[in-house]
Amino acid sequence: MGYQLLWVLVVLTFWKTGEGKRSIVEACNSNDLKGLTGLKARIHFDNSGRLEKWIGQSCCNWEGISCDNMTGRVTEINLPGFITRDGAPLQTTMEGWLSHSITHLTFLEVVDLSGLSNLTGRIPPSIGFHLPKLRKLYLFGNKLSGSLPESIAKLSKLEEMYLHENSLSGTLPSSLGSLKNLKRLDLHSNRFSGEITDSITNLTTLVSLNLQDNSLIGHIPGRIGDLQVLEELDLSNNFLTGKIPLSVTNLTAISTIYLDTNSIEGDIPFPESLGQMPSLSFLRLHGNHLTGKIPSTIGYLISLQRISLADNKLEGPIPSSLGNLSSLSEIYLSGNQLSGQIPRSIGQLSQLLVFSVSHNMIQALLPREVTSLQNLQILDLSFNHLNLSSIPTWLVGLPSLSRLYLARCGIQGEISEYLQSTPSSLQELDLSSNYLTGTMPKWIGSLAQLYLLNLSRNSLVSKIPGSITNLRSLGVLDLHSNNLTGPMNQVFEIQSSFEGGSLVYVDLSDNTFSNGIEQIGKGAQYGIRYLNLSHNYLKGRLPSSVGKLEGIQSLDMSYNEIGSNLPDSMGHLSSLETLKLRKNQFTGEIPHGFLKLRRLKELDLSDNRLEGEIPLGKPLSDFPKSSYTGNTGLCGKPLTPCKV
Ligand SMILES: *[C@@H]1O[C@H](CO)[C@@H](O)[C@H](O)[C@H]1NC(C)=O
Ligand SMILES: *[C@@H]1O[C@H](CO)[C@@H](O)[C@H](O)[C@H]1NC(C)=O
Ligand SMILES: *[C@@H]1O[C@H](CO)[C@@H](O)[C@H](O)[C@H]1NC(C)=O
Ligand SMILES: *[C@@H]1O[C@H](CO)[C@@H](O)[C@H](O)[C@H]1NC(C)=O
Ligand SMILES: *[C@@H]1O[C@H](CO)[C@@H](O)[C@H](O)[C@H]1NC(C)=O
Ligand SMILES: *[C@@H]1O[C@H](CO)[C@@H](O)[C@H](O)[C@H]1NC(C)=O
Ligand SMILES: *[C@@H]1O[C@H](CO)[C@@H](O)[C@H](O)[C@H]1NC(C)=O
Ligand SMILES: *[C@@H]1O[C@H](CO)[C@@H](O)[C@H](O)[C@H]1NC(C)=O
Ligand SMILES: *[C@@H]1O[C@H](CO)[C@@H](O)[C@H](O)[C@H]1NC(C)=O
Repeated sequence: MGYQLLWVLVVLTFWKTGEGKRSIVEACNSNDLKGLTGLKARIHFDNSGRLEKWIGQSCCNWEGISCDNMTGRVTEINLPGFITRDGAPLQTTMEGWLSHSITHLTFLEVVDLSGLSNLTGRIPPSIGFHLPKLRKLYLFGNKLSGSLPESIAKLSKLEEMYLHENSLSGTLPSSLGSLKNLKRLDLHSNRFSGEITDSITNLTTLVSLNLQDNSLIGHIPGRIGDLQVLEELDLSNNFLTGKIPLSVTNLTAISTIYLDTNSIEGDIPFPESLGQMPSLSFLRLHGNHLTGKIPSTIGYLISLQRISLADNKLEGPIPSSLGNLSSLSEIYLSGNQLSGQIPRSIGQLSQLLVFSVSHNMIQALLPREVTSLQNLQILDLSFNHLNLSSIPTWLVGLPSLSRLYLARCGIQGEISEYLQSTPSSLQELDLSSNYLTGTMPKWIGSLAQLYLLNLSRNSLVSKIPGSITNLRSLGVLDLHSNNLTGPMNQVFEIQSSFEGGSLVYVDLSDNTFSNGIEQIGKGAQYGIRYLNLSHNYLKGRLPSSVGKLEGIQSLDMSYNEIGSNLPDSMGHLSSLETLKLRKNQFTGEIPHGFLKLRRLKELDLSDNRLEGEIPLGKPLSDFPKSSYTGNTGLCGKPLTPCKV
C-alpha cells in the first residue's frame, strides 16, 4: 500500500512538472501561504495537532487544505472541531482569534472552521469583496461575535452558510436577499435582533432557513410563500408578532414549520384545501397567542407526523379530521381552551405515540375508540372537565401505555387494582387532584419501571407501604396533601438501581406523618434536589446524615415538631438554595458552618428555640429579620446585637 502511494506520488509529481506546472513539493501561491500562515498565527491552542504540522511552504499538502490541481490555488480549508481519528469520533478544540488574513485566499470555495468551541473574533467585514468563489461557509459552534457584514451579499456563489451557535449580533443585512444561489442558511442560537428583512423572500433557492433562538422582532415576511423550494423553516424562540401570513400555503415543498415560542397571534390560516403543503410533516406553533379554532381542514395535511399547538388560546373542538392523518405520531394540544369531546376518529391513528391535551375544557365521554391506539405510550388528559369517576379498565389495557396522566379527572374511590397489571409497565403515573380514598396499595411496589408517582391532593389514609423500597427507578414521588400517617423512613430506604440513588424530588408535605426522619441521608439519596416534609407531625432528631444530601437545592421541614440541634453537617449542603425549618422545636446555636451555604437565597428558621449569636457574614446576615424571629434567644445581625 505504501509502495503504491509512493508510485502515485512519483507519477503525479512527474506529470505536474512535465506539464510545466508547479510540482507538489513546490511552494504554494504566496497569497495563499500568507493567508494560511496568518490564520495559524492567531490560533494559540489546537489540541487536534493539525496546525503544528503546517510548516514549510507547500501549503497544498497541509492537513485540512485542498488546492485546485490546475491553478494550484487553495480552494478549501477543512478544519472542523469534530473529527474522526483511527475510526473513532473525536471533539477537538482551538483557541484563538479568527484572522482576517483568510481574505488573502481569494480562490476559496469552502471554509469549514466549525465546532472549534473557543474560536473568537469576527467575520471579516470585507469577506464579500475577496472570496468571490465561496460556496460553503461553516463557522458554527464557536465564540464569534460582531455582526453579519453587509459585504456577505457579494458572495454570489454561496450555497450554504452555517453560522449558528455563536454570539453574532446586530440586524440581518438587508442585502441578504441577493445571495442568488443560497440553499441553506442557519443562524440559530445567536443574538441577532431587529426584523427579519423582507428581502429574505428573494432567496428563492433556499431549501432550509433556521433563525431559531435569536431576538428577532416584527412580522414573518408576508411573501414568505415565494420560497418555493423551502423545505425547513425554523423561526422559533424569537419575539415575532403579527399573524402567520396566508402565503405559507404556497410553500409547496415545506416539510418542517417551527414557529413556536414567539408572540404570534391570529388564526391558523392553513390549509385551505387538499393538496396544500403536501409534505408538511412537523408543525410546531406552541407557545404563541394563536386564537380561533383548530382548522377543521387540518386533515388535509396528509403527511403530518407531529403537531404541537400547546400553550395558545385556541378554542372550540378538536377537529375530527385529525383522524384522517394516518402518519400522526405525536399530538400536543395542552394549555388551550379546547372544549367538546375527544373525537372518535382519534381511534384511527394507529401510529400515535403521544396524545397530550391537558389543561383544556374537554368533556366526557372518553371515546371507546381510544382502545385502538395500540402504539400509544403517553396519554395526558389532566385538568379538563372529564369527570371520569373511575379509570376506565379499557384505558389501562392499552398495550403500549407507559405514561398516564389523569390529574383532576374526577376519579373517586380506591386506586384501581388493575393498574398493577398493565400490559406495558408504567413509568409515570399521575392521579393527583382527584378524590381517591382508601390506602396506598402494597402492589405499588411491584411497578418495577416506575419513575414518577404523583398521588398528591387526594384523600388517601394509610401508611406508605414497605414495598415502596423496591421501586429501584423511582425519581419523583409526590404524595403531598393526603392523610398519610406513620413513619416515612421507607422513602429513604428505597433500593435504587443507581449508585447515589435515582430520587430527585420528594414531596410528603401536608400529611400526618409522625416519624422516620432519623433515616434521612442514611440510604442512597445523594441526587435528591427537592425534599418537602413540611406540615406533618414529625418528631425526633434531625440526624447529621442530612449532610449527605449533597445535591439538595430545596429543603422544607417547617411546621413539624422536630426538636434537636441543627446538625453542623448541614454546612456541606453546598447546592442549597431554600431552607425552611419554621415552626419546629430546634434548639441550640446556628452552626458556624452555615456560612458555607453560599447559594442560599431563602431561609426561614423562625419560631423555634434557637439561641446565641447568628454567625456573622454572608449569606446569614443578609436575610431579613423575619428569617429568625420567634426564637428563644437569637441575637446578632440582622437581629439586635448580642449583649456582652
Ligand atoms: C484534477 O482535478 C480534476 C477535477 O477536479 C480531476 O478530475 C483530475 O483527476 C485531477 N487530476 C489529478 C492529476 O489529480
Ligand atoms: C474554552 O476556554 C475556556 C476558558 O478559556 C475553557 O475553560 C474551556 O475548557 C475551553 N473549551 C474547550 C472546549 O476547550
Ligand atoms: C428583491 O427583489 C425585488 C424584486 O424582485 C427587488 O426590488 C429587491 O431589490 C430585491 N431585494 C434584494 C435585497 O435583493
Ligand atoms: C401564491 O402563489 C401564487 C402564484 O405564485 C400567487 O399568485 C398568489 O398570490 C400566492 N398566494 C399568496 C397567499 O401569497
Ligand atoms: C376525512 O376523511 C373523511 C372520510 O374519509 C372525509 O369525508 C373527509 O373529507 C376528510 N376530511 C379531511 C379534512 O381530510
Ligand atoms: C361526575 O360524574 C358523577 C357520576 O358519573 C356524578 O355523580 C357527578 O355529579 C359528576 N360531577 C360533575 C362535577 O359533573
Ligand atoms: C403533582 O400534581 C400536582 C397537581 O395535581 C402538581 O401541582 C404537582 O406539581 C405535581 N408534582 C410533580 C412532581 O409534578
Ligand atoms: C384527614 O383526616 C381528617 C380526620 O381524620 C379529616 O378531617 C380531613 O379532612 C382529612 N384530610 C384529607 C385531605 O383527606
Ligand atoms: C412544601 O409544601 C408546602 C405544603 O404543601 C408548601 O406550602 C410549600 O410551599 C412547600 N415548600 C417548598 C419549598 O416548595
